[in-house]
Amino acid sequence: MPTVPDPDLVPFEPPDHPTIRAAFRNVIESYPRALYDGQGLVRYRTRFLDSVLVSEPELIHDILVARADLFRRDDVTRQLLSPMLGPTSLFMAEGADWRWQRRAVAPTFRHDKLLALVPTFSTIAVRQVKRWRAAPCEQPVDVAEAMGQTTLEVIVGTVLGSAGALDAQGFARALTTELDSFPWRFILTAFRAPLWLPYPGRWRAARAREHIYREAARLVAQRRRVSARADLLDLLLEARDEETGRVMTHEELVRNLATFILAGHETTAVALTWTLWLLAKYPHVQDQVAAEANATIGSGAVEAQQVERLAFTRQVLQEAIRLYPPAPAISRQPLAPLVLGGEQLTPATQVTITIYPLHRNRRVWKNPDSFDPDRFTVDQVKARPRYAYLPFGAGPRVCIGASFAMIEATVVLAILVHAFRFTAVTGHRPHPVARVTLRPRGGMPLYIEPR
Ligand code: HEM
Repeated sequence: MPTVPDPDLVPFEPPDHPTIRAAFRNVIESYPRALYDGQGLVRYRTRFLDSVLVSEPELIHDILVARADLFRRDDVTRQLLSPMLGPTSLFMAEGADWRWQRRAVAPTFRHDKLLALVPTFSTIAVRQVKRWRAAPCEQPVDVAEAMGQTTLEVIVGTVLGSAGALDAQGFARALTTELDSFPWRFILTAFRAPLWLPYPGRWRAARAREHIYREAARLVAQRRRVSARADLLDLLLEARDEETGRVMTHEELVRNLATFILAGHETTAVALTWTLWLLAKYPHVQDQVAAEANATIGSGAVEAQQVERLAFTRQVLQEAIRLYPPAPAISRQPLAPLVLGGEQLTPATQVTITIYPLHRNRRVWKNPDSFDPDRFTVDQVKARPRYAYLPFGAGPRVCIGASFAMIEATVVLAILVHAFRFTAVTGHRPHPVARVTLRPRGGMPLYIEPR
């Protein structure tokens, strides 16, 4: 275990107090130092906002698991995401509306079904290897963009069963435009101002959302005409609520398809991006991943039964998403007044589980600002509180795609590191910026050379 922090892994100094200004710039930079030093809960009140920030495993268990029924998705997340994901998609719905949808898609995410997807993950990763082999390697390449494309191809290939049916580049551009408008919408929401007020990029974002909606609607219509095999979209089309007999409306299908494409690719792309940067910075760890890949996968493709043997590769990913959690915060609002950690909350209180500081909480993690994949050996995981590590959330609304994402990322990482050596660009210190997901500002340039 490294005994000193790596200054490159400390991109900013946390403030003593949260401010709206810092939150507008980059919400993770507004989380106060106390959350890293072990104070479980910080309350922040302004004239418009009553916010509670939580970074203590027991309190998190209370909110997400023990009393999950007493909370709903918060208004800020609703205002930010529902224009894109719709108010009743799996991600947004509440209560019975949420429960039946979750039950309907759960079979797709069973372990045996996921292992059957390994050949698709593998083929798409090999396609990325070919793209990089064909490109000149004297200049750094933006691995953030490449990982966005790879994970988009994976989700389209698995959700729709036929990769290439979506205009991947147009979709990725539209998503970036939409995410870039979030700081303004956050400010409007924080000051309880209506979202129709003008702000920079408002029309661009509206057009981007329209593009995402139109693409998803086109794919649903296309699939209604030709059904190929039982992929996730077919499950959505066939889903029927056992209690009421209802099926999904066209609007719900389109919104859910957009939800799966968005929730399923952007987070995994940033997970892989940060991991590749860490491996470029720590060549001895990269060599260990390459050695494991050489010993396991032989020809360059990965088969389902080999995934389990890529244990170190998986640990590297787990450590990367500790330092750079793709979803850096999860928020809720109480349905009725309640007491949490001694604080009286009202239905207007926004409760945010601050995953970024939680993953660097000094009370839980030894030398948290250092990169050490051995934190994820079985013994070390057992020795830690369960709710100290939450890249995928917890409780009934835990990420439905968690295993999907870990298998996919393990396969893709093994194939890429088997084929290439990644080297950091001297002097480039990536800065994580929270735009729902934790993206590196300005992309992630790395040198890539064939092994
Ligand atoms: C590294 C990759 C991923 C990360 C870090 C991640 C993270 C998360 C987190 C933290 C939540 C919980 C949000 C909350 O409680 O408010 C969530 C929910 C969700 N995720 Fe993921 N996710 C990833 C990949 C995926 C994939 C691959 C899919 C689909 C194939 C997916 C689909 C969803 C959906 C549909 C929800 C909403 C579940 C519900 O509310 O019932 N995610 N994700």
